[in-house]
Amino acid sequence: MRLLLALLALAASRPLARAESHWCYATQAKDSRDCVGPDQWGGQCQKDRQSPINIATTKARVNESLGPFSFSGYDKKEKWTVQNNGHSVMVSLGNGATIAGGGLASPYRAKQLHLHWSRVPDAGSEHSLDGDRSAMEMHIVHEKENKKEAQDPKDEIAVLAFLVEPGNKNEDFQPLVEALSAIPRPMMSTTMKQSISLFDLLPEKEKLRHYFRYLGSLTTPGCEEKVVWTVFAEPIQLHMDQLYYDGEQKQKMTDNVRPLQPRGQRPVFRSQAPGQLLPSPLPALLAPTLTCLVAGFLR
Ligand SMILES: *[C@@H]1O[C@H](CO)[C@@H](O)[C@H](O)[C@H]1NC(C)=O
Ligand SMILES: [Zn+2]
Repeated sequence: MRLLLALLALAASRPLARAESHWCYATQAKDSRDCVGPDQWGGQCQKDRQSPINIATTKARVNESLGPFSFSGYDKKEKWTVQNNGHSVMVSLGNGATIAGGGLASPYRAKQLHLHWSRVPDAGSEHSLDGDRSAMEMHIVHEKENKKEAQDPKDEIAVLAFLVEPGNKNEDFQPLVEALSAIPRPMMSTTMKQSISLFDLLPEKEKLRHYFRYLGSLTTPGCEEKVVWTVFAEPIQLHMDQLYYDGEQKQKMTDNVRPLQPRGQRPVFRSQAPGQLLPSPLPALLAPTLTCLVAGFLR
């Protein structure tokens, strides 16, 4: 009897779920009538201070207030839990890591990090630099400490964005790469086999002085316009063996990348650190392993 009631409840909730129209990315929207793609996302998604954007690097204005970040708790090694949330893979970061400096108005606490990728090797990042996309993009999402109502909410969230490019073998990243094969479907989660710190996932600390800054939004619905973005010039490097997968895994892959949004009148700043440190162009034929490992996530 209970089972039957439960089944009836399930059946009843389905049309409702459809009417609410769950959001999805463009590639999924093409294959499915059950979800709405980026051009119809709700919330604030159709407003005009949205993310991601293309960053014209030479036009970004040097801003002297954009000094180095100070990172705290970023060196703490843990066996993080990695979750497939149906839109990305996400690592929950507890409450142990904060950032300050970097031209931010106040300290921010790290909440989670997640990845964006594509089946097309040079289309997996959300932001682009001078029109070029990278293989992937990693977002570390922070929330402002001491939130006060009545305060300007434009910077309630600080996202640190790292582009991912093919390069040297990155042993430190491997525990995350390996975790992905254990969570092929939405709602699955796993724990890394080895402890790593946030710094282990990032480029050399010294290179984190070079970054771009603008105000925008979350890149998933409801696209709230309350994000202060930092896009680092130095990419995370992963070796081709980490990016590449020559694949028996013929599952359908999907792209969790929101299309570029108009910059409009918003200024884009760059940190004052001297020297040019821009990612090198991506060789055309790489198919990311991470992408393949997470194949089928979004089916
Ligand atoms: C530098 O950036 C801050 C925001 O971080 C902004 O308020 C300020 O106007 C910028 N300065 C210049 C000279 O553009
Ligand atoms: Zn993101």
